[in-house]
Amino acid sequence: MRTALLVALLAIPAGLAADLAQTPPMGWNSWNKFNRNIDDKTVREIADAMAANGMKDAGYIYVNIDDTWEAGRDAQGNIQTNEKFPDMKALADYVHSKGMKIGIYSSPGPKTCAGFEGSYQHEEQDAKTYAAWGIDYLKYDWCSARKVYQQSDMQRVYQKMGDALKATGRPIVFSLCQYGLEDVWKWGATVGGNLWRTTGDISDNWRSMSQIGFDKQVGLEKYAAPGHWNDPDMLEVGNGMMTYEEYRTHMTLWAILAAPLLAGNDVRNMTEETKAILLNRDVIAIDQDKLGQQGYRVAKQDAAEVWMRSLEDGDIAVALFNRGSGPARVTANWSDLKLSGKHKVRDLWAHAERGSFKDSFSAEVPAHGVVLVRVKK
Ligand code: GLA
Repeated sequence: MRTALLVALLAIPAGLAADLAQTPPMGWNSWNKFNRNIDDKTVREIADAMAANGMKDAGYIYVNIDDTWEAGRDAQGNIQTNEKFPDMKALADYVHSKGMKIGIYSSPGPKTCAGFEGSYQHEEQDAKTYAAWGIDYLKYDWCSARKVYQQSDMQRVYQKMGDALKATGRPIVFSLCQYGLEDVWKWGATVGGNLWRTTGDISDNWRSMSQIGFDKQVGLEKYAAPGHWNDPDMLEVGNGMMTYEEYRTHMTLWAILAAPLLAGNDVRNMTEETKAILLNRDVIAIDQDKLGQQGYRVAKQDAAEVWMRSLEDGDIAVALFNRGSGPARVTANWSDLKLSGKHKVRDLWAHAERGSFKDSFSAEVPAHGVVLVRVKK
């Protein structure tokens, strides 16, 4: 009896973590733009920029350091930071002082994907170190774990870090990065995962983004819910190798997919178009809708695709995509959206009311572009 009570009491801090990621996490991650060239100074500047440029106010609160911060271990086995990050606790304090949260990265294997020290056989110790530093988010990347475990061990391996994070008592978002292997969407939540990558890495080009966003998420919508999300990888918006039309498509797809919105660009220095995409409150509101129901494709004809996402207030977000290389007229039929009668339509990229429509809504959509509307209930 006593043991049972003690176990129940010890479990309380873990319960706190259950409130994490009630909507898809939003923030920034260093990898897509900075790769290995990330350090303490840059992270501070990024946090400063996000606090000042409207990103923090729009909900982008996680400042996440990806791979290459790690050094080896000290005599007691404690993970050390390398010369780029002289004092991780001080950096976490700084990010917190800006009203934001900080994330870090590791691997269950001996080495990370970039060949730095991983958490293999130091899982609990590392989780404690992260908590002591004040870390709020961990991305845990399979990488060299394939050399020391079978792929079928994956669930158990991720559970180990999930348990270790919970045991710290600090709410730490747990981001599973294993490229969608082993149908992670079926077990990601049970190991404590708040999000799980569904595919390999995104690149800053139309082919990569559109394959991941349109094709590889189909059927996964039933696995997303408040607290745990499918993660089609970080944003490339603003990194320069796609057109603004394509970046709007990228942002729209991620919002319809209830995907984490982790900006992957240099947010210290953004064009007006990039800002207008990342900071569009109407689009962010779709992504962050409290119902937490991931959207899906309802119609596809040639290059035209219509996707919908049901929203908490009964409205429906409807995206009219054109994957083709010339402009096209795309139609959303009310019957495909399970709607009837007349409904008001607001265009969320044009910021304009379009009027009331019966049976369907059509729009001219540019090549690789999108028209995103909110159809009122
Ligand atoms: C893997 C991940 C990326 C990034 C790199 C870092 O490729 O999928 O998102 O974290 O490792 O080395």
